[in-house]
Amino acid sequence: MILCIADVLDADSVARVRAGLARASFRDGRETAGWHARLVKHNQQADSRTEAVESLRSLVDQAVAASPLFQTAARPARQRPVMFSRYESGMSYGAHVDDAVMGQGGDRLRTDLSFTLFLCDPDSYDGGELIMDTTAGEQSYKLPAGAMVLYPSSTLHRVDPVTRGERLAAVGWVQSQVRDPRHRELLFDLETARRRIFETQGKTPEFDLVSKSLANLLRMWVES
Ligand code: NI
Repeated sequence: MILCIADVLDADSVARVRAGLARASFRDGRETAGWHARLVKHNQQADSRTEAVESLRSLVDQAVAASPLFQTAARPARQRPVMFSRYESGMSYGAHVDDAVMGQGGDRLRTDLSFTLFLCDPDSYDGGELIMDTTAGEQSYKLPAGAMVLYPSSTLHRVDPVTRGERLAAVGWVQSQVRDPRHRELLFDLETARRRIFETQGKTPEFDLVSKSLANLLRMWVES
């Protein structure tokens, strides 16, 4: 399941992050890529060792965590703080799969889901689409500033070359409480269905049955 979530960051926060990144220093993105992704990664990443960038990261992390759709779709157990990437004209990130395991020691996590939160108005740059290789063919994403696309980390994906302007994004990874993407999708659909039943009909016997099934599937699938 690939999910687009609108307005994760409001306009004020987008402006604040962009203003902060305009003052930040950026490094070659290859420094944080796995050995094979390094061959195709041509972008830049904000140096996160400064307090200013650190606070921008937590602003975005908190906004993502506060999204009910993100919580329902990802069921996060652990999360990497976001990284800020920048593509100037001529930069791209060729086809790759994200590392399956990131971090070390207590910070180590299995990447079940990846996300890209767009920070620039799509009209302000050409190219820079995030392209996902799916069983239904290639799918292209270029979302409004503040919106994010959440997708299984198991997919091959790339960022097409930027040919005008600048593309800024926050990228992140999540280990889910529910490892299997098919299970996550079933839980997501049931949660969505039961909320609609509740909104239209209230706490009916049907709502109770769907709630019971959802809770019991969670008991089967959640990793503790
Ligand atoms: Ni990637």
